[in-house]
Amino acid sequence: MESAALSRIGLAGLAVMGQNLALNIAEKGFPISVYNRTTSKVDETLDRAAVEGNLPVSGQYSPRDFVLSLQRPRSLIILVKAGAPVDQTIAAFSEYMEPGDCIIDGGNEWYQNTERRISEAEQKGLLYLGMGVSGGEEGARNGPSLMPGGSFQAYDNIKDILGKVAAQVEDGPCVTYIGEGGSGNFVKMVHNGIEYGDMQLISEAYDVLKNVGGLSNEELAEIFTEWNRGELESFLVEITSDIFRVKDEFGDGELVDKILDKTGMKGTGKWTVQQAAELSVATPTIAASLDCRYLSGLKDERENAAKVLREAGLKEEIGSASSGIDKKRLVDDVRQALYASKICSYAQGMNLLRAKSLEKSWNLNFGELARIWKGGCIIRAVFLDRIKKAYQRNPDLASLVVDPEFAKEMVQRQAAWRRVVGLAVSAGISTPGMCASLAYFDTYRRARLPANLVQAQRDLFGAHTYERTDRSGAYHTEWTKLARKSN
Ligand code: 6PG
Repeated sequence: MESAALSRIGLAGLAVMGQNLALNIAEKGFPISVYNRTTSKVDETLDRAAVEGNLPVSGQYSPRDFVLSLQRPRSLIILVKAGAPVDQTIAAFSEYMEPGDCIIDGGNEWYQNTERRISEAEQKGLLYLGMGVSGGEEGARNGPSLMPGGSFQAYDNIKDILGKVAAQVEDGPCVTYIGEGGSGNFVKMVHNGIEYGDMQLISEAYDVLKNVGGLSNEELAEIFTEWNRGELESFLVEITSDIFRVKDEFGDGELVDKILDKTGMKGTGKWTVQQAAELSVATPTIAASLDCRYLSGLKDERENAAKVLREAGLKEEIGSASSGIDKKRLVDDVRQALYASKICSYAQGMNLLRAKSLEKSWNLNFGELARIWKGGCIIRAVFLDRIKKAYQRNPDLASLVVDPEFAKEMVQRQAAWRRVVGLAVSAGISTPGMCASLAYFDTYRRARLPANLVQAQRDLFGAHTYERTDRSGAYHTEWTKLARKSN
């Protein structure tokens, strides 16, 4: 082993993401060692490396050989299941590692686990990065979006590799040093929360077009293709148009109609909403998308509720609304509603990031985050360039909604947005994401809210005190006594 040429970097954990990322790194000209506990995966990767262009991949079959096959300071990426398997993998390798070497965890890890591991690594003189990797299988192989956080030195050691491996957009590779601690994982977590929001909003657009507008899958495919040429151009809109085109191999019609309406999840969206609550940041669109996943899981209960309420006299509205609908106008309205709803959802995600950045002194650069999401990742979209520019114009922007450009776009779209939500509500088609975004917009933009009444109630029953609009200080009133006296 000692005599063989050492690899520039190593990757352990050769499931789908790991294999593809390793091949991507090798293809960019960086010799890589690979390791997996189940050794057949190592052979599989070597076979692929041979087939996909004789790529410089060296297979290793023990943790010791793997670590010793790397140039110093060693950089070693692990891509195993988040949680305990990461700790086990680190334990297996770290006994052969030396001060200055670095571990990079590329999984969807809870940021506090990364922070714990950073200090554990530090005690051994090791460096640590928690790196969000987005883009699925295809992204890993051909260019993901990378969100490395933790040791800057560790990032610097592999900056050249990450810069070549990441997706490339016109303003650079989709990678940047995110910040210290678990910031890379946190940013990836919020990316996933936004991903949930986007997917929910798209599914609502589909629901309205199909069940209010009466559009066929063929028409939907065309519309999403068209949308992907304009302001909504994005990976998720593009794949949605493809989905509507796939025929069912077991029967008539399209496959999409045969898929059970229960959404799975692995947890990052839930963490996003939990963090939002912890930090007192409103993320209603993302929360609505999470709630919808929960409700979708109650398939049996929903079927029963449909039956019980039908028997109780509820009329099935679906379909009936489509008569007399101007399809062309509906499509145009839904496009605008989707776009405006998305802006609100991204505003929520960015504000969550800002709150965490302040709490942890991460000093996140929001313009840069929007830039590295322009390519490679699941939420990649043309409009992220506008988000990037908004934060470049004003790094302290309170909300995307009040960026002058976005503010104009929201105002232009609000009539269409309200029409779509109104139509959906009266047709009984739930659009929780669009409604949440619209309510967020309407709440945020109103200079005066009915919170005065809530304050009065709190003061009445709990003497919680209130502030006044016209003089400073905290006030308490004997509400009941005064009210009854004046009667
Ligand atoms: C990505 C994705 C990915 C995520 C899946 C599954 O950026 O490539 O966010 O990391 O794990 O999308 O998420 P759910 O199973 O929770 O929907």
